[in-house]
Amino acid sequence: MMKRVFILFFVFVSSVSQAQVSQSDKMQWFGDAKLGIFIHWGIYSVDGTDESWAFYNKKVPYPVYMSQLNRWSAENYHPEEWARLIKKSGARYTVLTSKHHDGVALWDTKAVPSSKKRNAAPLSAAVRAPAKRDLFTPFAEAVRKEGLKLGVYYSILDWSHPDYPGFRKDSTRYEIKKEPERWENFCRFNQTQLSELMVQQNPDLWWFDGGWEHSAEEWKAVELGNMLRNQNPNVIINGRLPGQGDYDTPEQNFPIERPKEKYWELCLTTNDNWGFQFQDKNWKTPKEIVTIFADVVANGGNLLLDIGPMADGKIPAEQVRILEELGRWNHKHEEAIFNSVGGIGAGHFYGPSTLSKDSINLYLFLPGNATGPIEVKGIKNQVLKVEILGTATNVPFKVVGKISWSDKPGLLFIDVPNDPQLLDPVMTVLKVTLKDPLKLYSGTGGL
Ligand code: GLC
Repeated sequence: MMKRVFILFFVFVSSVSQAQVSQSDKMQWFGDAKLGIFIHWGIYSVDGTDESWAFYNKKVPYPVYMSQLNRWSAENYHPEEWARLIKKSGARYTVLTSKHHDGVALWDTKAVPSSKKRNAAPLSAAVRAPAKRDLFTPFAEAVRKEGLKLGVYYSILDWSHPDYPGFRKDSTRYEIKKEPERWENFCRFNQTQLSELMVQQNPDLWWFDGGWEHSAEEWKAVELGNMLRNQNPNVIINGRLPGQGDYDTPEQNFPIERPKEKYWELCLTTNDNWGFQFQDKNWKTPKEIVTIFADVVANGGNLLLDIGPMADGKIPAEQVRILEELGRWNHKHEEAIFNSVGGIGAGHFYGPSTLSKDSINLYLFLPGNATGPIEVKGIKNQVLKVEILGTATNVPFKVVGKISWSDKPGLLFIDVPNDPQLLDPVMTVLKVTLKDPLKLYSGTGGL
């Protein structure tokens, strides 16, 4: 009896630890990647209207919205240039919309929307747009050539599909309870499309969207998740396929508290829209983007920064500029960002911070490029040196308020000179080298 219990216990413990090891192995590249570039490209870039939501919210009649497909020629689409720019930005992965909520596929799908219309043409750019080619696969190939990881965005809801219940905000096609076969038909369609993408693109990451319209059970989320993981056990799935996610996906607003999931990714537009819109000139500045990025990384997350190419395939000049500036900054501050872990938290330093994985180097991101005495609290270690990262310049520092016979640390003051030669035009980063791995004090102080 004892022996059996022991064996059972052993099997349980080893399977638990195996599962944990493989999850952290699987998530390793993602956790280290820090920056990804999101791309929303679809027929909505032709007229520059809201991606899919334009007809759902009745801003534009459905036939007018869909007519953009007949005008999508993508004549200046050079996916190798996209991939090169993404690489240059410092990003380690990229996610392209294979199909948004409007149901238009960028790849050459063979899945036809309705079982009743066997001869109907698939709803894809490859077949129905003047572009007349697969717009997804050449990008995937270029991405691999640059050594980047590939993510496939797929909207699991499809407001164009005749067997999908949802259509516009105030109209639906049917109720699943009343017409279960119709829903089954739609689920088979999704499955076919996902297996096409899975086989053709072999993504490193699936970025699902639109899961909010149905339950995990209705989506058959477990089956879908199993299908994708069986094909590639290392594949990562975002948190929008209900119940299947490996990580959380807050959107647009940086959370005040870090999300509960160990892994998370903030997706963020560069202006106010995901896709290209002519009138939207509300660009975030490189300073603003880097400030958000540093905050994300300091809180253990990734940033998925969005761009929306124009209908002809060109990336708007402002977005090119943002990505290039980000690339310059990332290159200079590489060690503070990539392969780092979250830092020491708000009570210790009034700004974002990260740590090297061995906890010997502490990186401080100076908000608003602050200069003068910069205060850091609770560091118990001896500080060996402080340098302005990327400049090979050491700056003076001192410790004040240390009581010689108490084990409470003093306050570290770093004197950052107001010298434009030394400060980064976007955000300056300090590297604090400690004598040994960081030991933090975070009590109420005193003796
Ligand atoms: C939302 C929107 C969608 C966009 C996505 C990106 O879910 O529905 O339009 O693609 O956010 O995160």
